[in-house]
Amino acid sequence: MNPNVPTEAAECLSQDASSDWWRTACIYQIYIRSFADGNGDGTGDLAGIRSRLPYLAELGVDALWINPWYQSPLLDGGYDVADYRRIDPRYGTTDEAELFIAEAADLGIRVLVDLVPNHSSWEHAWFVEALASPPGSAARDRYHFCPGQGANGEQPPNNWQSVFGGPAWTQVDDGEWYLHLFDTSQPDFNWEHPEVKDEFIDILRFWLDRGAAGFRVDVAHSLVKAPGYPDEAEAARATNDHPAVGPDHPFWDRDEIHPIVRTWRQVLDEYDDRMMVAEAWVSPERRPLYVREGEYHQAFQFDLVTARWDVEQFRRVIAQGVEAAVSVGAVPTWVLSNHDVVRHTTRYGLPTDADLDRWSLTGPAELLDEARGNRRARAAILIMLALPGSVYLYQGEELGLPEAWDLPLELLDDPIWEKSGRTQKGRDGCRVPIPWESTGPSLGFGDAEPWLPQPASFAKLAVSEQDSDSHSMLSLYRAALAIRSRQPASEVQLEMLDLGFEAGVQALAFTSRGLRCVVNMGADPLPMPEGEVVLCSGELSDDSAAGRVLPSDTTVWMA
Ligand code: NOJ
Repeated sequence: MNPNVPTEAAECLSQDASSDWWRTACIYQIYIRSFADGNGDGTGDLAGIRSRLPYLAELGVDALWINPWYQSPLLDGGYDVADYRRIDPRYGTTDEAELFIAEAADLGIRVLVDLVPNHSSWEHAWFVEALASPPGSAARDRYHFCPGQGANGEQPPNNWQSVFGGPAWTQVDDGEWYLHLFDTSQPDFNWEHPEVKDEFIDILRFWLDRGAAGFRVDVAHSLVKAPGYPDEAEAARATNDHPAVGPDHPFWDRDEIHPIVRTWRQVLDEYDDRMMVAEAWVSPERRPLYVREGEYHQAFQFDLVTARWDVEQFRRVIAQGVEAAVSVGAVPTWVLSNHDVVRHTTRYGLPTDADLDRWSLTGPAELLDEARGNRRARAAILIMLALPGSVYLYQGEELGLPEAWDLPLELLDDPIWEKSGRTQKGRDGCRVPIPWESTGPSLGFGDAEPWLPQPASFAKLAVSEQDSDSHSMLSLYRAALAIRSRQPASEVQLEMLDLGFEAGVQALAFTSRGLRCVVNMGADPLPMPEGEVVLCSGELSDDSAAGRVLPSDTTVWMA
């Protein structure tokens, strides 16, 4: 433990905290490489985040989730962990992490650490040992090593594909193959192995003892693989639109995951106020299994990420999300963007049938209507923040940052670019460093060239530009979060409203958090419902004949 951490700081949160703080929390995701660069090397770091804590407090968030900060070769942005107990020197030190957690606590902000249990980096000491050990050795048992198929074992053991593209198996010099559901540099752990289980219990305690409020758990729907590694049925292959369905899939969403989660939960329950949220890309029907009593506190609902701008889709996703969470006493956990998906201002600016994985490469650029994307992004955040439960924001969405879709190919860093056979640019476009100032070589990100270049359009979106502009996206987020924090929300309650519009009108209306939220998702203005306006995502205007109208792509909160 860091002796410099003031103990009152660590106590401050537990004193004023309700034990279920996460049930209604707004949690802000920090992609550490790209948030703020404190040491001038072009990469974000802990010093940068610490210097921006006042900004986060003013924004009004309750907690931060920090993407992996561990020692790593950064071949998958840090999701390739070489040492789970060491902060990468580019980001700072473990003592500094502890200091940061305490400083955030002083401002009433909790910190979630990203736990990556499905795989390590190939630079992890266990994998290095496994490679140096012969086939069949105990060191190889901590991962999935096995012989290949074919007369000389020259074919992969089965047909499993890596999420990033290509076979999920790589052959080593002695002929055995190892499993990696993601990049070649990310070997999957063998979760049947007792040492793997014990190791992760210890890692949980390591960060909980240092004040972490809990964990975002990476690829929570994998971990356990089917014995004998049977082929994956073609029809069962998961995609973003058709998430994994268990329990018969050989590597997604297997029932054997849950006893493991229960052992983690027991550890968290030994501490006050800690929580864990599952990144589980499973079907809405299977998601409640992850948030049953004794398991995760939350599981991300990615349904708003995959929903198109369409009233029926939003209505279904909202109703399903609320119902599924309530069925097991959990809370809905909403997300519009994260570091893996096209930023939502850009998503909403593209036609609903655009191929989001490929458009940044294939274009045409003219498909993108930036103004419409921005309008819808403003409307969408007021939908999400009115919903019951907890919300996750992704850094930069409060500035309305678009996807940097035209990054030069030679600068791409995401393994998806190569693994997809250069058919997809990958996720770098949503990971570009934050513009804090409208001028300077890195727009206030730091003193050096940033690790990814910022598009010219970022200058006018900088925090300094938006800070005192009452019409800016940042001001909208601040106002909405302030109102949200005052609205009662201990119960998960939502009622869909019928405002009497004709069938087919793209209007969504519900009450929740003591507010009436009305959305015009259509192209034509709608008559404004009666009531006092609390906040509106756009300008309310008068149609001289019809009176006050709710413009297209606009959300209004009413008392
Ligand atoms: C999900 C993470 O969000 C993503 O960024 C990462 O590439 C994969 N898991 C593998 O860890």
